[in-house]
Amino acid sequence: MAHRWHNDLTPQDVTPEALFWNRRRLLAGLGGAGLGAIGASMAAAQEGELEVNSFEDVTSYCNFYEFGTGKGDPAAYAGQMHTSPWEVEITGLVDRPGTYGFDQILSEMTLEERIYRFRCVEAWSMVVPWQGFELADLLSLAGVQEGAKYVAFETLLRPEEMPGTRYPVLDWPYREGLRLDEAMNPLTILATGIFGKPLPNQNGAPLRLVVPWKYGFKSIKSIVKITLTDQEPPTSWNMANGREYGFYSNVNPAVDHPRWSQATERRIGGGLFASRQPTLMFNGYEAEVASLYEGMDLAKFY
Ligand code: MTE
Repeated sequence: MAHRWHNDLTPQDVTPEALFWNRRRLLAGLGGAGLGAIGASMAAAQEGELEVNSFEDVTSYCNFYEFGTGKGDPAAYAGQMHTSPWEVEITGLVDRPGTYGFDQILSEMTLEERIYRFRCVEAWSMVVPWQGFELADLLSLAGVQEGAKYVAFETLLRPEEMPGTRYPVLDWPYREGLRLDEAMNPLTILATGIFGKPLPNQNGAPLRLVVPWKYGFKSIKSIVKITLTDQEPPTSWNMANGREYGFYSNVNPAVDHPRWSQATERRIGGGLFASRQPTLMFNGYEAEVASLYEGMDLAKFY
């Protein structure tokens, strides 16, 4: 299928699936142990038999905080989230506001596989095969009105199924936002699957955002509400720590996180002792998205 975007990644670039599923434990190994242990962890992960590492810094890897900040929490608790039936409210500056059933949404959308680079604020990256559809198609279904400038997203908030939401780690529900032109870009998808399978709850079933040129926390999971608005919407990480997490959060080697450099990254699965490589501007999607930010000071709008 011809894409409206240029893809330089092939199935050979995809992060080995065992490494993807085990990466949190793997990354814990990166933080807590020396290089030898990393190699051993990677080899073990390749074999799918990784030992749980004792390193406890929950901020060093990404997760699903509604299920807790402990490294085993999402794996332990995400299974209790009911994802069927699932409804998404689309509201605000749209012609056809309302509650859309997930099955109804799926029946209207064209699903396709997209191999994307995926990168969190910590300096590691992966190549992930997502299955999904373009967010623009869903927004067109609802009918974006003139005057809409931003899209706001909210995750399910169901405390009885999400033990992490009993603690004020973030201001729940988890919220994210995009400028309308970012949301309409053909690279921006709502994913329903990963590695050829339906999304596991832990990864944001049944519907999560994927914006490949932005850091991973923009990829909000288990979405239940989408609002078209004329105001820049508040976002969870920006509200929690605005100095460290801006609204835009574009992958940018030239703009460091206040506590660490973003200039290089380590590709998970890039070989047992993969060396660091330079971070690509916009995560390698510069040709597709740089024009969105023409004339903007990206150090100011980080
Ligand atoms: N969405 C919700 N609702 N809650 C979260 O805690 N974590 C974010 C993002 N989406 C998060 C979320 C972060 S920090 C990252 S890096 C990615 O999800 C991780 O996605 P993955 O677990 O599928 O790799």
